[in-house]
Amino acid sequence: MERILEPEVMDGVEQAQVYAEADFAEENQGFADRFLESYPDFTEGHVLDLGCGPADIPIRLLRGQSGLWLTGLDASQPMIRLAERAVKEAGLADRITLLCQRFQDPIPTSPVDAVISNSLVHHVPNPLQFWYAVKKFAKPGSPVLVMDLLRPESPDEAQTIVDQYAATEPEQLRKDFYNSLLSAFTEDEVAAHLAELNLSRLLIDVQGDRHWIVYGRVY
Ligand SMILES: C[S@@+](CC[C@H](N)C(=O)[O-])C[C@H]1O[C@@H](n2cnc3c(N)ncnc32)[C@H](O)[C@@H]1O
Repeated sequence: MERILEPEVMDGVEQAQVYAEADFAEENQGFADRFLESYPDFTEGHVLDLGCGPADIPIRLLRGQSGLWLTGLDASQPMIRLAERAVKEAGLADRITLLCQRFQDPIPTSPVDAVISNSLVHHVPNPLQFWYAVKKFAKPGSPVLVMDLLRPESPDEAQTIVDQYAATEPEQLRKDFYNSLLSAFTEDEVAAHLAELNLSRLLIDVQGDRHWIVYGRVY
């Protein structure tokens, strides 16, 4: 199945609210744990989260890690508002900075010590821009963890995945999930994007039936 691109920025107020209220606890905690377990020496430094959404992953990552601070960036104003509230409630406003902007635009920060991103790449019309940003904003040797959806073989398969994992979720979330699956990349496509930007030192792994992760250090 060819990729069917979905809108880039999740700037609907209801759309952002429904996303923030969805239960991604297991997935998001898994992402934070995986980063910390993969890079046990990384106990101090500045992390950049591209497409941070409501900031659930930044909060989970920084809790209990007093040496880390983070800049979360999202082009959606409603998402950033929700993120600001969550960060304040978590008592992490002094260590998490939130920016409402596209990652393709200049980011007002010096190169960072680590880059993370979950579920952003499938939104991006040109994925090479995303990998270029990872390279540009990270200091050489920085740990990277990127996770996203895998594009299924057909729209029917995408619908089956939505019905399996989001049967009782609100219609807006089910619709966004379905469109995201159609807009996602295959493992081979991601590997080709990495190769094109000389990022082949990063490794790609398929996780379960609907995710890929890219990890390693960027040079
Ligand atoms: C599916 S959400 C994932 C949010 C978060 N990473 C998480 O895992 O909960 C994708 C986010 O990327 C944001 N986004 C899409 N294109 C973007 C861009 N070019 N620059 C910054 N953020 C972008 C969307 O607005 C949305 O909030």
